[in-house]
Amino acid sequence: MTPVLATRGLDKAFGAVVAAAGIDIDVPAGQRVSLIGSNGAGKTTFVNMVTGYLKPDRGTIALDGENIVGLAPRMIVRRGICRSFQIPQLCVELTAMANMLVACAAAEASGLSSWRAPDDDGRRERAEGLLERFGLQRYGDRPVSELPGGVRKLLDIAMALTRKPRLLLLDEPTSGVSAEEKFPAMDRVMEAVAGEAATMVFVEHDMDIVSAYADRVIAFYAGRVIADGVPAEVLRDADVRRYVTGAAA
Ligand SMILES: Nc1ncnc2c1ncn2[C@@H]1O[C@H](COP(=O)(O)OP(=O)(O)OP(=O)(O)O)[C@@H](O)[C@H]1O
Ligand SMILES: [Mg+2]
Repeated sequence: MTPVLATRGLDKAFGAVVAAAGIDIDVPAGQRVSLIGSNGAGKTTFVNMVTGYLKPDRGTIALDGENIVGLAPRMIVRRGICRSFQIPQLCVELTAMANMLVACAAAEASGLSSWRAPDDDGRRERAEGLLERFGLQRYGDRPVSELPGGVRKLLDIAMALTRKPRLLLLDEPTSGVSAEEKFPAMDRVMEAVAGEAATMVFVEHDMDIVSAYADRVIAFYAGRVIADGVPAEVLRDADVRRYVTGAAA
């Protein structure tokens, strides 16, 4: 079966810094993939290339077999790849609900969303449903500027789901989420993603979260993939222990 995402020979350099070198990754439908790696390993660069925020210097990126390199981010969103950000991209002066409504309206305006709101009420219903699914209803009327970092992260993810994406990329969904809230937050994310039948790639630094939620782990170091496999195997790998987790070998 054609993988949902297939990259071949992705290279990206920023001057002398190699942020991606020969990245070949296939992600089949339904898989939950975690990207791990120390700071500067190239995880966000990979997410940015797949979502069109950065153009690779070389290589191809295919969604369901169709090349998407060179398309603008908004066109890639229309093809069904949505994302959340390492630093959430929200209108902080608006309420959480207003942010959701803007995301819903944008999804409709793209014309290719598989979901159609019949009217303002329908849009509000969809927004309320997503807020509820993420346990965020009580924040609906609050301006985002007043919300804690972890809540903003979840809101950004909820907004990425307004379009029923085929592939969802989350850049550090649990950073800024308090230790005791991380697992409940990921439970919500996983449930919501399963409900939308999306394939998921998430960047994560917390290895307990990686072990609990990923089917597969891909480890990056200096722009290269140094390990790829099931979590237990990758987290035991000598290079991963040396360059990523810092665990004693
Ligand atoms: N726009 C840019 N201009 C210059 N250098 C960049 C740019 N974006 C990323 N880099 C560099 O590319 C390398 C990879 O960065 P990237 O943000 O992909 O790392 P990361 O794995 O996401 O790290 P972190 O865990 O800190 O988020 C780093 O050395 C970074 O400084
Ligand atoms: Mg990053």
